[in-house]
Amino acid sequence: MFVDPENPGARWPVKSRREFVKNALASSAAACAYRFPSLLKAAPPTADSRINILLDEPLGTISPNIYGHFTEHLGGVIYDGLWVGPKSKVANVDGLRSDVIEHMKKIKASVVRYPGGCFADSYDWRDGIGPRDKRPRRTNFWNGADSDKSPANHRYEPNEFGTNEFVHLCKLIGAEPYLAANVRSLPAMEFQHWVEYCNSPAGSTTFAEARAATGYAEPFNVRYWGVGNESWGCGGNFTPQEYAVEFRRYTAWLPQYGKPLSLIASGPNTDEWFWTREFLQEIVRKGTGQLREIYGMALHHYAWNLSRGKTNDWEKGKGDAVQFEPVDWYELLREGQRMEGLIEGHWQVMGEFDHERRIKLIVDEWGPWYRPGSEATPADILEQTPTLRDAVFSAMTLDIFNRHAGKVAMANCAQLINCLNSLYLAHENRFVVTTVGRVFELYAGHQGAESLRTEFSAPQVSYQRDGQTAKFWGLNGSASMRGKNLLLTVVNPHVSEPREAEIVLRGSAVSSGNVATLTHTDLHARNTFDQRETVMPVRAPLVKGDRIVHTFPPASVSALSIELR
Ligand code: AHR
Repeated sequence: MFVDPENPGARWPVKSRREFVKNALASSAAACAYRFPSLLKAAPPTADSRINILLDEPLGTISPNIYGHFTEHLGGVIYDGLWVGPKSKVANVDGLRSDVIEHMKKIKASVVRYPGGCFADSYDWRDGIGPRDKRPRRTNFWNGADSDKSPANHRYEPNEFGTNEFVHLCKLIGAEPYLAANVRSLPAMEFQHWVEYCNSPAGSTTFAEARAATGYAEPFNVRYWGVGNESWGCGGNFTPQEYAVEFRRYTAWLPQYGKPLSLIASGPNTDEWFWTREFLQEIVRKGTGQLREIYGMALHHYAWNLSRGKTNDWEKGKGDAVQFEPVDWYELLREGQRMEGLIEGHWQVMGEFDHERRIKLIVDEWGPWYRPGSEATPADILEQTPTLRDAVFSAMTLDIFNRHAGKVAMANCAQLINCLNSLYLAHENRFVVTTVGRVFELYAGHQGAESLRTEFSAPQVSYQRDGQTAKFWGLNGSASMRGKNLLLTVVNPHVSEPREAEIVLRGSAVSSGNVATLTHTDLHARNTFDQRETVMPVRAPLVKGDRIVHTFPPASVSALSIELR
C-alpha cells in the first residue's frame, strides 16, 4: 500500500479525490505519415504476433449500453456544451447543439447518464421542470471549483436544462436516459415523485399533467435510475452499511407503471473491495430476496495517478494531458489496464452474495483525469484536450468491457463534452470531435454483437520506468460477431514499433473486409477547434485470402470488419 511521506499514518492520502469533491461541496455547496501496407496476404514467417479468434467460444452479448455516456451540470458540459438555447445562433435542435446530436446518432449512442456525478446529490429535480423562464437559479455544486472567469451559468445553475430537455435529447439521438437520484440531500419521497413525473401515464397524476403542460404528454419511461452517486464521498459520506440501509429505503415501493425499473446502486471507488462486500452483506441481512432490487452496482475508476508510484496525492499525482513523454504514455495505459482487475475483483466479491449472478457491473464513470492546463475553453473546469494517448486508452478500455460482456451491463465515459475524456469539445459556434469521439465511431459495431474469446500473443513492450525495465502487453483487443460479420478491434500500445500479426479464424474463411486505423506519427496529436481532423480514421480494404496478416502501426487503434463465408 502507498504511504504518503507527509502523513504516513493516513488511511487516505492527504489530498484524495474524495477530499477534492468534498471541498467543492463545502464551498458551494494523419494525415498519418505511417501508411498501412498489406492488409491481407499469405503469412510470411516473420509475423511475430498472433491473434486467435475463437469463433466457437462466445463470451456473451455486448450490451449496447457499454457504449454509454455521461453528462453532468459541471463546467462547460451542459451550458455551452450540450445546451445553447433555442434562440442561439449556434445550430441547434430545440436548444440542443446540432453537431452533438448528429455525431451521437452516428456512433449509435445507447444510454446517457444525467445530471451527475456529484451534482446529482445536490440537485432538486423540481428546479428543472416547468416553464424555463420561471425556473429558479441555484448555487451549482461545482461553484467552489469554478474560477472567477467561469461563466455565471456554470457557477449559478439557471436550470434552463432539466429533465424534459435531457429526455428530449435522448429521444433525438435514440438513447436511453439514465437518471441519478439525490440520496444525500432529498428525501426518498422526492425520488418517488421524480419517477412519477417521468413515468406516470398521460393524464394519470398531477405530475403527468405538469409534464403534459410543458409539451410532454406521453411518459418518458425512464428505466435506469441511479440511487445516489459516489455515496462513499460526495453522495453522502456513507459507510457501505449506512448506504445499504438508505438503498433499501429509497428503492422500496417505487412506482413502476407496468415496466420494471433498473436500479443502480452506488458502488465502489476503484479497488475498494470492502465497499462492495459490506454493502451487499448489509443488503442481504434482510434476506437474499433484497438482491432482486439491484440491477447493477456502479464502479468508478479514473486513471489519474501518473506519478509512477511516487505519490498518492490527488493534485500532485496527476500528469499533463498534452505534454508527456513515452513513459507517461505507458503509465496512463497501466492505470487504465487496472480496469480489467477491478471488474474481475468486484465481480468475484459480488458472487459471494449474488449466487444467481443477477447483479451486473455498471462502470458509470471511467476515463483519464489530468491536471488543469489543456482546456479548449480556459474557464471550463475539468476540461482537458484528448490526444492520441486518450484514443488508445479509450479503445483499450472498451475492449476490456467487451471481453467481460457477461459482467458489465453498462459503462459511461466521463464525460461527453467539455469535461475529462470528452468525445466533443465545444465553445459558442466552435465544435470538434476529439480523438475519443473517433474511437467510439470505430467501436460502434460491437454494440449488441456476441463477444468472442480472442487470444493475443505478441512481444511485450519493454521500456524504462525510473531506471527499471517495465513491461506492458504488446497487442490486445476484442472481437465480436453478428451473423457473418466479425469486428476485431486491436490496440498496439508501442510508441514506435509496428506489430505484424497473423489473425487466425479457425474453421472459417474470409469473404471480404476492411480496416479503419486511428493513429498519428505524433503521440500528442489531437483534434482542436482550428485543426479538427488531425487524427482521423484511415480506411483501407482487406484483400481476400486464407490467412490474414496485418501490420498494426505503432500507437494505434484498428477496427477490422471482416465478412465470413
Ligand atoms: O466526473 C467528475 C466527477 O468525478 C463526478 O461528478 C463524480 O462522480 C466523480 O468524483
